[in-house]
Amino acid sequence: MNPIVAPSILSCDFAYVARDVEMINQSAADWIHVDVMDGVFVPNISFGLPVVEAMKRHSKKPLDVHLMMVQPERYLKHFRDAGADHISIHIEACTHIHIAVQEIHKLGAKAGVAINPGTSVSALEDIIRDIDIVCFMSVNPGWGGQGFIETSIEKIGRVKELILRTGSKAVIEVDGGVKLDNAARIYQAGADVLVSGSGVFGHPDPIAAIQTIKSLTR
Ligand code: DX5
Ligand code: ZN
Repeated sequence: MNPIVAPSILSCDFAYVARDVEMINQSAADWIHVDVMDGVFVPNISFGLPVVEAMKRHSKKPLDVHLMMVQPERYLKHFRDAGADHISIHIEACTHIHIAVQEIHKLGAKAGVAINPGTSVSALEDIIRDIDIVCFMSVNPGWGGQGFIETSIEKIGRVKELILRTGSKAVIEVDGGVKLDNAARIYQAGADVLVSGSGVFGHPDPIAAIQTIKSLTR
């Protein structure tokens, strides 16, 4: 079995978004990971709806949209209309996560729940059966290019246990600090989806970097 690979477009050159989306089209990547930051839930602001819509026009791969924003429930339909195929929302940012997950499904998208490094796996206990993706943050959200938090390895194992125990169909998407030199270890720990931003776009040959991650086996 090989991982699902989702390059993070946050690390692209925003003056050449279409070119960089086209690179992902040509690669072995499965999804394009799209980080939306509101400047409130996280200090940084990345981009919003018109940019997601522009990426969608060029992308041949599903858009895996990660909303790092407060009250994401206000914008689910907007992001779906802009072309999001998957929508992940933070458990720390959404009061009625169960309603929001149902809403994402009603809109016809896959539903993900993201958890920060400081959030306990047990927070997922009562939502895990209802979701398609656990967006597991292995850095504190807000920026690309941060170092992988090592305690994530053991925590990924606990998410896996929860999934097996509850019969959930959710995949574990590890997001943050995934690079060629640690991807194998993270995959072995139980990740199903590997997001990589700077690890792909900071590599001299991004297509080869994506292929290397895609070729991992378990
Ligand atoms: C962090 C974002 C990540 C980021 C990953 O806030 O959610 O998706 O783009 O970038 P790297 O792989 O550079 O850590
Ligand atoms: Zn992300």
